[in-house]
Amino acid sequence: MLRAALLGAAGSRTLQRFAHRHGMNLGARRFVAGETLDDFSAVARGLNERGLRVAAGLLGEDVRDARDARAAAQLFEGILERIAAERLQATVALKLTHLGLEADPQAAYENVRGVVERARELGNFVRLDMESSRYVDPTLHVYRRLRAAGYANVGAVLQSYLYRSQADLRGMLAFAPNLRLVKGAYLEPPAVAYRKKSDVDENFARLVELCLREGGFTAVATHDERLIERAIDFIRANRISADRYEFQMLYGVRPALQADLVRRGFPVRVAVPFGTQWYPYLMRRLAERPANVLFFASNMWRA
Ligand code: FDA
Repeated sequence: MLRAALLGAAGSRTLQRFAHRHGMNLGARRFVAGETLDDFSAVARGLNERGLRVAAGLLGEDVRDARDARAAAQLFEGILERIAAERLQATVALKLTHLGLEADPQAAYENVRGVVERARELGNFVRLDMESSRYVDPTLHVYRRLRAAGYANVGAVLQSYLYRSQADLRGMLAFAPNLRLVKGAYLEPPAVAYRKKSDVDENFARLVELCLREGGFTAVATHDERLIERAIDFIRANRISADRYEFQMLYGVRPALQADLVRRGFPVRVAVPFGTQWYPYLMRRLAERPANVLFFASNMWRA
């Protein structure tokens, strides 16, 4: 129930305005690098120095205005240029609704194509995050269009809570996709998504194994130690080379586990979000772990 309430609150513009008034100081900085590109760059450099790769995520979603969507695409191109100028070990991840998918899918395609083109010129990579289930078809359509247009430096995300993800993965194997596999962070109805955690976890492991065996590149994106160890066993047993996978985790979540995997010689990328539009992202992180709500409540109490 708490999860549903928090995910419901993620869409509230009133709560968003309230959160912004009180700034990041109540605890958002635990999960968000800051509001500026300078904040991102400082955090990314620190992670790189500790052997962790980074995925830059400028926060934003559900943009309906064409000019705002275009402006967001230009900001992503600026991030790619900054990564190149500072020689950071970092790729970029974006949400298509940030680039206007809801309002105008063709314009969103042109926006993301521009970002992926700039990334290709700079030798970099762009991942299309996956949003709620109504965006899965349009997002995978854009991904396929980009691949058909010859862009190999773009990847997608599949969510193991969705029944459809096995079929989506099988449908993509022919073109050796670069996929990030996650459990899924949105509130979905039982018509489309597994309810039981054990089903979501088992589907996650099966997607990871299929993708490792037959896909191009697999990003195993979870903080779940049991599933990470199961993936490691599979990687070892099938001699999957280290250029075909990596582990991915979120900034601020289980940093000791991230460091431990690096120490053991595994490639790890940390998704580092930044920007002023941090509220919905933060609510999804709170929904994942009730203890995070207590962390925030105690900060508010102290403030
Ligand atoms: P699970 O929720 O079972 O957690 C396992 C353990 O990890 C917990 O017991 C706890 O110790 C720790 N943990 C997990 N979340 C935590 C949190 N918020 N705070 C503190 N501890 C926490 N989703 C999506 O729908 N679309 C997307 O594009 C992405 N992208 C993405 C990128 C990356 C790099 C990651 C790691 C995750 C995503 N996600 C996502 C989010 C994903 O769907 C999922 O909600 C979270 O990863 C939490 O699930 P776990 O797999 O970590 O397992």
